[in-house]
Amino acid sequence: MKAVLIQDFGDVDQLYIGEVDAPELIQNSIRVKVVATALNRADTLQRKGFYPPPPGASPVLGLEMAGEVIEVGEKVTKWNKGDRVCGLLAGGGYAEQVVIHEDVAMSIPEGMSYTDAAGIPEVFLTAFQALSYLAKLQPAEQILIHAGASGVGTAAIQLAKAMGAGKVIVSASKGKHQICKDLGADDTIDYASQNFQEEVAKLTDGVGVDVIIDFLAAAYFQKNINSLNFDGRMIMLALMGGMQLDNVNIGNILRKRIRIIGSTLRARTIDYKIGLTKDFSNFAMHRFADGSLKPVIDSIYNWNNVQEAHSHMEANKNKGKIILTID
Ligand SMILES: NC(=O)c1ccc[n+]([C@@H]2O[C@H](COP(=O)([O-])OP(=O)(O)OC[C@H]3O[C@@H](n4cnc5c(N)ncnc54)[C@H](OP(=O)(O)O)[C@@H]3O)[C@@H](O)[C@H]2O)c1
Repeated sequence: MKAVLIQDFGDVDQLYIGEVDAPELIQNSIRVKVVATALNRADTLQRKGFYPPPPGASPVLGLEMAGEVIEVGEKVTKWNKGDRVCGLLAGGGYAEQVVIHEDVAMSIPEGMSYTDAAGIPEVFLTAFQALSYLAKLQPAEQILIHAGASGVGTAAIQLAKAMGAGKVIVSASKGKHQICKDLGADDTIDYASQNFQEEVAKLTDGVGVDVIIDFLAAAYFQKNINSLNFDGRMIMLALMGGMQLDNVNIGNILRKRIRIIGSTLRARTIDYKIGLTKDFSNFAMHRFADGSLKPVIDSIYNWNNVQEAHSHMEANKNKGKIILTID
C-alpha cells in the first residue's frame, strides 16, 4: 500500500509518499480503507526524530483516521464490511489502510463526512480524558484552557461546556479568540499582550480556576499554580514551553492542595484506550449527531500536499484540525 514516509528525520521536505507492506489483520481487528486522517503536533515531532512511536506501533505517521471497513477479523462482532468508522491509532494513519482493534473504532454519525470524522478521535479523546478522567471536572467549576484554538483546545472548550463547567476561560493568540467564543468560551485572554495570571484573577474575583488544561509546561508553570483555586487540578498535556523550571515558588501547591497530573494518550495500553473510547462514545456520539458537539476543521489537504500541511501547523496558523485526504 501507499503511505507517507520519512526520508531522513528533519524538515517537511523529508516527507514523501512511498510503498510499505499493508498491516496484518488480527482476529479481533478490522481493516479500514482510510479516506481521511488528521495532523497532530506529535506528527511534526516524530518527523523530526524527537518522538519515536511506542513499541509495536507503526512507524508511519498518523494518530487517527476515518474510513470504510474493508475486512473483518474472525472474532469481530461489531462491524461489517462497508461500515463507516473513525478511531485513534498508535501510528500508521497517513496510509491507504490501517488495522484497528474493533473496540477502538467508533461509528461515524450519519450525515457526517469522513473529513469531519477524521478530526474527532485524537483531540476529543485527549480532551475528554483530561477533563473527565484526570481533572474530574465538576458542574459549575471554572476552567482555564491554554492554546484554546488548538485541536485539543477547541475540543476541550466544547466538552467542558457539555459537562456543565461554569466559566470557561481560554488563552490564545488574538486572531483566534472569536472561534473560541463561538465554541462556548466565556472569556478569552491574549497571552501575548496580557498577563494571564492577572486576567484569571480578575475574571474569577481573585478565587482562581478549579482546572487548567496546560500545554506550555515550564513557561506557564508559575502563573498556572498561582491561577488555581484551592483543590485545583492542572493537567499537563504537552511541553511546548519547555521542561526546565527555574526559580519557581511552589508554595501554592501545598497551601492550595493543588494536584498536577501529566499524561500522554498515545502510550496508554489498548485496554485503557478501549475503555476511554467506550466512555467517550457514550458521552459524545449523540451530541455529534445532534450538532451540539462538532469537529473543528481548519483546512483540508490532499496527502500529496502533506508537506504544506505540516508547514501550516508548524507556523501555528491553524484553528482546529488540519485534515489530510488519502487517495
Ligand atoms: N498528552 C496528550 O495525550 C496529547 C494528546 C494530543 C495532543 N497533545 C499535545 O497538545 C498540544 C496541542 O496539540 P494540537 O494538535 O491540538 O495542536 P495544534 O492544533 O497544532 O495547536 C497548537 C497551538 O498552540 C499554540 N502554541 C504553540 N506554541 C505555543 C507557545 N510557545 N506558546 C503559546 N501557545 C503556543 C498555538 O496557538 P496560538 O496561536 O493561540 O498560540 C498553536 O496553534 C501539542 O503539543 C500536542 O503534542 C498531547
